[in-house]
Amino acid sequence: MLDKIRNYYSKERWEHIKGMLSLLNILGEKNYSFTERFFNKLTYAILLHDSGKLFEDQFSKKYYFPIYHAYLSRSIAIHAFGIEDKDMLNAILFHPTGREKMSILEIFLYLIDFSELNRTFTEAKICRNLIYNNKLYEALIYAAQVKLYYIEKKKQPLNLNTIKMVKYYEKMA
Ligand SMILES: [Fe+2]
Ligand SMILES: [Fe+2]
Repeated sequence: MLDKIRNYYSKERWEHIKGMLSLLNILGEKNYSFTERFFNKLTYAILLHDSGKLFEDQFSKKYYFPIYHAYLSRSIAIHAFGIEDKDMLNAILFHPTGREKMSILEIFLYLIDFSELNRTFTEAKICRNLIYNNKLYEALIYAAQVKLYYIEKKKQPLNLNTIKMVKYYEKMA
C-alpha cells in the first residue's frame, strides 16, 4: 500500500509527507496518548491527504480553485484505496480550509499539515509550540489566521469555512 501511495507524490511533496509523519511520531511519543486506532487513522489520512496534488493542474486549469486537490485526494482515497471511514475522508477534504466543529482527527491533520518538521518558517514553529503545549484551539486559530493573511495578500477569495472556523474556535479557546 505504501508503494502505491508513494506513486501519487512528487519527490518534494513526499518530503512534506515524511515531515508530517515525523511530527506525528513526536506528538505520539511525547505529548499525546493516541490510541493505536487513532494513530493508524491519522497516519493514513496524512499519507493520502495531498494525493490529488499531482492532478490538480490538469483538472483545475480552467477554473482555478486552490483547494481542489483536497476533493481529488478524497476521491483517490475512496476509489483507489477503498477508504470508507467518514472521519478520515472529512479530514482529507477539509485539510486546506478547516471548518467549525472539527473532529480530533480533522484538527490534527490540519495542524500537522501546517507545521510539519520540514516547514521551518516562523509561523510553523509557533504553531508547533502551541501543539507541543496542548493548546490545540489556539494553534488552530493561529494557523487559520496566517493562511487567511496570505490568501488575502495574494488577492484570492477567502474561504468561508476558514472564517467560520476562526470565529468558532475563538469562542472555545
Ligand atoms: Fe494539501
Ligand atoms: Fe499537505
